[in-house]
Amino acid sequence: MTTIDTPIKSGLEGIVAAETRLSSVDGLAGELIIAGFPVEELASRATFEETVYLLWHDTLPDSDSLAIFKKAFNEHRTLPSATIQLLRAAATSRVSGMDALRMAASTLSLDAPDDNPLGDIQRDALILIASFPTIVAAYWRLLQGQEPLASRPDLGHAANYLYMLSGEVPSDARVRGLETYLNTVVDHGFNASTFAARVIISTQSDMISAVVGALGALKGPLHGGAPGPALDMVFAAGREAAKAEAYLRQKLERGERLMGFGHRVYKVRDPRAEVLSTAAERLFRAGGDMQLYDLVRSVEQTAVALLAEYKPGRNLQTNVEFYTALLLHGLGLSTNLFTSTFAIGRVGGWTAHAFEQHETGRLIRPQSMYTGVKNRRWERR
Ligand code: ACO
Repeated sequence: MTTIDTPIKSGLEGIVAAETRLSSVDGLAGELIIAGFPVEELASRATFEETVYLLWHDTLPDSDSLAIFKKAFNEHRTLPSATIQLLRAAATSRVSGMDALRMAASTLSLDAPDDNPLGDIQRDALILIASFPTIVAAYWRLLQGQEPLASRPDLGHAANYLYMLSGEVPSDARVRGLETYLNTVVDHGFNASTFAARVIISTQSDMISAVVGALGALKGPLHGGAPGPALDMVFAAGREAAKAEAYLRQKLERGERLMGFGHRVYKVRDPRAEVLSTAAERLFRAGGDMQLYDLVRSVEQTAVALLAEYKPGRNLQTNVEFYTALLLHGLGLSTNLFTSTFAIGRVGGWTAHAFEQHETGRLIRPQSMYTGVKNRRWERR
């Protein structure tokens, strides 16, 4: 039935579709390089603005360039009034945070009018990164029946996000924890949402369209939607090791997946899990209560052992989402904010990939294998 000889890879696994200087993922060595830096080296040291600059320019900024870059982000934090109106309507319908972010992101074109159908991709990238925390925090507050807060120009990107959620200026420890998270998840090779963004830009569409498409891909539980369920699972598993084992065993017996485990590329522990667990340990130790951290570590050990028992040979290990859940919970974020906060970090990578794709200018257009019938004849019924 087919005219194509190449074997089908329905999940595109193992297919290399582009060169990139942005990040390298080695699934067997458990290694993630972000613009030349091992994730362990970069994540806990850089500010988020420095990491985005690094991805966009392939070099770290000097102090003058960083000040200009930060100022540019600062200038784009305020949302168009139509965006706020839309968020109010979304809060009335109580749509999910990711749906609200996707709808609001589309409206950012209102502030970026342009005769050029491609838009101004540099300016649009700034608007997107700068606006995401404002959108997420405003929507969160509206859902709680509170008014959105204006951003604080004296605060950096991560600190300002925490401030706009709660109205409190966060401690250095919390800011450091969030920046470590945002840097850790900023880019990760050709993951589904990044690929979606690159496909859209490859048609010479605009930056805002590319990021809106990427948000849709990130939302799903097999990609960015896992950390909320991962934390729910830890709490449901309970505080006693024996109870946790019985609970996880039941899930596997029912054929369910354990959220926060397994990865398409990593066949060893995801290196981001290590970075985030170290950041979480630091945060929980500073708070003086290690109970939840210890519980999460023990649930992780039980889950990995059970996955080896139920899915032998699959090498199902802890992925980034498991410790995302712990760290973001430790930062005081509700599970409903987890995937949107992931997007606040990953939009840095999406925009950098869109620039890269834009430069190569090659339309991404794979083929499919037709398995339907041929030579039907039209007969009116
Ligand atoms: N729990 C239980 N079984 C699992 C899990 C899991 N977490 N992950 C994979 N498996 C099993 C599958 O059931 C399948 O078993 P089978 O062959 O006996 O049917 C086998 O392992 C292979 O699974 P696939 O879905 O083919 O593997 P894939 O590479 O597509 O999966 C994925 C990767 C989607 C991340 C998967 O491991 C999963 O669903 N994990 C849980 C959700 C999750 O944590 N998502 C976040 C991923 S990280 C990120 O995107 C940022």
